[in-house]
Amino acid sequence: VTVPSENQSAASPALNEVTISADHPPLRVIPGSYGIPFFGPIKDRLQYFYGTGGPVEFFKSRVQEFRSTVYRTNMPPGPFISGDPKVIALLDAKSFPTLFDVSKVEKKDVFTGTYMPSTKLTGGYRVLSYLDPSEARHAELKNLMFFMLKSSSSRVIPQFESTYTELFNTLEIQLDKTGEAPFNDVGEQAAFRFLGRAYFEVNPEDTKIGKDGPTLINKWVFFNLSPILTLGLPWYIEEPLLHTFRLPAFLIQKSYQKLYDYFLSAATTVIEQAENLGIPKDEAVNNILFAVCFNTFGGMKILFPSTLKWIGLAGENLQTQLAEEIRGAIKSYGGGMVTMAAIEQMPLMKSVVYEILRIDPPVTFQYGRAKRDLTIESHDAVFNVKEGEMLFGYQPFATKDPIVFDRPEEFVADRFVGDGEKLLKYVWWSNGPETEITTVENKQCAGKSFVVLITRLFVVEIFRRYDSFTVDVATSALGSSITITSLKKAST
Ligand code: HEM
Repeated sequence: VTVPSENQSAASPALNEVTISADHPPLRVIPGSYGIPFFGPIKDRLQYFYGTGGPVEFFKSRVQEFRSTVYRTNMPPGPFISGDPKVIALLDAKSFPTLFDVSKVEKKDVFTGTYMPSTKLTGGYRVLSYLDPSEARHAELKNLMFFMLKSSSSRVIPQFESTYTELFNTLEIQLDKTGEAPFNDVGEQAAFRFLGRAYFEVNPEDTKIGKDGPTLINKWVFFNLSPILTLGLPWYIEEPLLHTFRLPAFLIQKSYQKLYDYFLSAATTVIEQAENLGIPKDEAVNNILFAVCFNTFGGMKILFPSTLKWIGLAGENLQTQLAEEIRGAIKSYGGGMVTMAAIEQMPLMKSVVYEILRIDPPVTFQYGRAKRDLTIESHDAVFNVKEGEMLFGYQPFATKDPIVFDRPEEFVADRFVGDGEKLLKYVWWSNGPETEITTVENKQCAGKSFVVLITRLFVVEIFRRYDSFTVDVATSALGSSITITSLKKAST
């Protein structure tokens, strides 16, 4: 799947172009400390999860305390799950991109941070997301993912349209009945159905797995991420249960097997291709499962509610403009159909999607281990980092850096329209600049173009049907929980 877009071909100047006043910022010792062994990491963990203001305040208060956007801290989970919770946090747009440079950082086993979930949760394999590009399997498996995405390209638009028509019909019925329609559960059912239809030409609901896919995935993802999640329960329950010991993998084995069996039967073409690429069948199925359930479904689980949140909260004015633009482009450039050509003629809609990905990157953490002694530059200092030290970036701080973005905390719908496209090189949700291309040599998200396309399609499908909508927003363990409170049918 390619999203032909001017930004993809645009030359992307080096990120260290972000400059501020000082040409040669002073060398500074990285501030911050890890505290007393064992107790320091626990103290930081408690503050991170249960301190006032949560993670955002955790990071912000230290930036203020140390007067630095680069500092040392522990990151959860710490004892007894992570062997070494010590990191160097990179919290500005200048230092953060160090994490994309695989000549400087090793991305081996750092996908979830300072701990790695047991490989018992992934069929005994270190799946692609945990591999460094220097490992031979990385390129083979990433090519397999490219194959899966490419071979689905002609199905994405039609299958999205039919699946999300079903979803909106369900939401309308619910709204008529009770005056409100919770989005997340039915949205996840639609996402899993769409992915089956697009990737494998299979509707999972017509197979043995039925409607159980999303529940099975959510349980399994929880077993992977529980050390770094909070459910909003009191600390004395969550600490021993989630953050101190791993949940035993055998408890999720049956659920995982059901997912495995579904992919074994559904993903036949992709599995065949894997065998052509020299990847054994069992390893391929576990990797396909991870890419669809964790990478894709997990991403959509956060990004689609976030899309409803930001457009919903922006209000009727923006929604009216989107509806006009989308319907106009479909008519003039798509002959009444949603086509790639028509989508390209929707500059406001495209900007809105990028702005959502900027202000609320669905994956907020990136990690990488220094491959050698390095210097890292923030806007106001240069720091020495030793080989083997763990670097950590909290992306919302980097993509809301006031030195790069005007009104960084505000949702500016047309931020990336026209000249604003120049700023796309600072949109980093995919673990790399939006202007760069995912390859087997880097660790950028394999589904980068696919994700942008389906989020655009989601916005397009909303405004083909509705003039405007309203939402209630609450938080959940992963992203926002959305209730649709009104849908105003399209008047034109
Ligand atoms: C990697 C985000 C959808 C496949 C990543 C990374 C991020 C990310 C941040 C880098 C993690 C790191 O190494 O630090 C997302 C989001 C998605 C999404 C937010 C949806 C909203 C997809 C889709 C696929 C996919 C649709 C399709 C196969 C992958 C793979 C990697 C990856 C295979 C590892 C790449 C490598 O090892 O080089 N994704 N992703 N993701 N993503 Fe996505």
